[in-house]
Amino acid sequence: MKLAIINGPNLNLLGKRETSIYGNTSFEKYFKQLQKEYPKIEIVYFQSNIEGEIMNKLHQVGFDYDGIILNAAAYTHTSIGIGDAIKAITTAVIEVHISNVRCREKFRHKSFITPHCKGLIMGFGLVSYKLAIEAFTKETLKFNL
Ligand code: DQA
Repeated sequence: MKLAIINGPNLNLLGKRETSIYGNTSFEKYFKQLQKEYPKIEIVYFQSNIEGEIMNKLHQVGFDYDGIILNAAAYTHTSIGIGDAIKAITTAVIEVHISNVRCREKFRHKSFITPHCKGLIMGFGLVSYKLAIEAFTKETLKFNL
């Protein structure tokens, strides 16, 4: 099984950025832990602060990977382009957020991503990513039931 984790803007600063919301762990450190925990799954990680690069990555992995875990960060709330890219590809995407965006400012309640995703996991800190991996390993998702 091949999964891609794609992180959007400012998530390169995890561990340093607004730690009361996003925690003290860098994504690189957490990613190493995930790879150790799931040795049989090939997991690749990509992060960009640039909207078009996120679309390019979705196009690149979106036709032969088994699943994509996407935290589009602030672009979630603004990007019709990323929403369209998810619609264009065939690989299922799970939207994740570290924080529970529904409990935060109103502008974070809108997502251009959710309508095109298989599911949405948020509010569990970095564990949100692990829960998305678990979801992809379940037969119901694999066979699109
Ligand atoms: C976030 C929530 C977004 O609203 C915010 O812009 C982020 C991170 C999260 O993971 O909680 O950068 O996607």
